[in-house]
Amino acid sequence: MTVKSYPKYLINFLNSHYSMDPFEKFNHWYGKEQLKNKTNFSSACCLSTIGLDGYPNARFVSLKRASNDFFIITGPLNSMKGHEISNIPKVALTFWWSHTKKQVRIQGGVSWLIPDLADEFFQKRSRKSQIISCVSKQGYLLNEKNKFSKRINDFSKLYINKQIPRPKSWGGFLIRPTRFEFLSFSSDRYHDRLVYILNGTQWNKFYIQP
Ligand SMILES: Cc1cc2nc3c(=O)[nH]c(=O)nc-3n(C[C@H](O)[C@H](O)[C@H](O)COP(=O)(O)O)c2cc1C
Repeated sequence: MTVKSYPKYLINFLNSHYSMDPFEKFNHWYGKEQLKNKTNFSSACCLSTIGLDGYPNARFVSLKRASNDFFIITGPLNSMKGHEISNIPKVALTFWWSHTKKQVRIQGGVSWLIPDLADEFFQKRSRKSQIISCVSKQGYLLNEKNKFSKRINDFSKLYINKQIPRPKSWGGFLIRPTRFEFLSFSSDRYHDRLVYILNGTQWNKFYIQP
């Protein structure tokens, strides 16, 4: 159901009662989960793209930044997800936070991260991750694991005591949400579901049935 199906007075009433914008709400929930969940996996989320074959394609990634108007995911741009996003720059991000029993669903448009920001994120990665990102062509066939491990070792030796430059094909995806759904899970199925939809520059908020 779209927001247009709701009467205007209801939308105005609901808007006046819930003043947090969706980014504030996201960061509030995310912060609460991080406090309870000591594993560092609260950044894990499911990134769904529209496959080149028309099927949805989904995989877990790590949220690298949640700002007040966008989200950042990093990884190889020449990967399957990179090709799919180039083809149709629309994605969904889904979080399940088990310690606080919250689900957040986000849909939005995507653009590439500017090179300076990609450099910044690349330099923050562990050395091992940087090396793998340089050597591996994510998603390509792996014929001989031994040879691959040798290439990783050779690369590490080549860059010993040197800064590893970001490969041009490694970057990030900047997601600008147009829809959020915040679900508080209830074991009796009476979930609380709050939706935000971007309408021009305004966020319309409304509840939907569990
Ligand atoms: C918890 C978790 C976090 C991950 N984080 C990332 C990430 O931030 N970026 C990334 O490219 N792949 C990440 N991966 C690997 C992806 O799930 C996936 O294998 C990879 O991105 C290739 O997907 P693609 O072939 O559809 O492009 C992560 C996997 C897991 C399980």
